[in-house]
Amino acid sequence: MTAPGTPSADDGERLVASASLQESGTAFVWDVLEFGRPARAFVLRFQGALRAYVNRCLHVPTEMDWQPGEFLDSDKRFIICSIHGASYEPADGRCVGGPCGRGRLTAIRVVERAGEVYWYPSRDIRPPRPAGPAPASSATSPP
Ligand code: FES
Repeated sequence: MTAPGTPSADDGERLVASASLQESGTAFVWDVLEFGRPARAFVLRFQGALRAYVNRCLHVPTEMDWQPGEFLDSDKRFIICSIHGASYEPADGRCVGGPCGRGRLTAIRVVERAGEVYWYPSRDIRPPRPAGPAPASSATSPP
């Protein structure tokens, strides 16, 4: 049995309290490794559902938020890239306008459970640390 608060592979990785993600509000942004390279991801609530993607525009591989955690346009209708204005459908990450072509943002599976939001690593997108308990410290005692 897993101790309370200790993540297991089935539980996903805890991100944030559900209540902190307001409808069409500020996203929660966190660090991931995509194909072993540092990247950022974000989760926001849109039309009642949580949507999570890697924070990387399809036009130029850069982060998109125009302020930290702010991804939606002024009408709260689309995810918009702050660099050149590419627009994405929040429900599926599909490019719907601007220079992002026919692709879509890389989705990340998230769930809400007992008032918390969890994300699920995949083969390609992993936490920025090994899964499991933190290694024992090898630091020496302070002088
Ligand atoms: S970098 Fe996102 S639209 Fe150009």
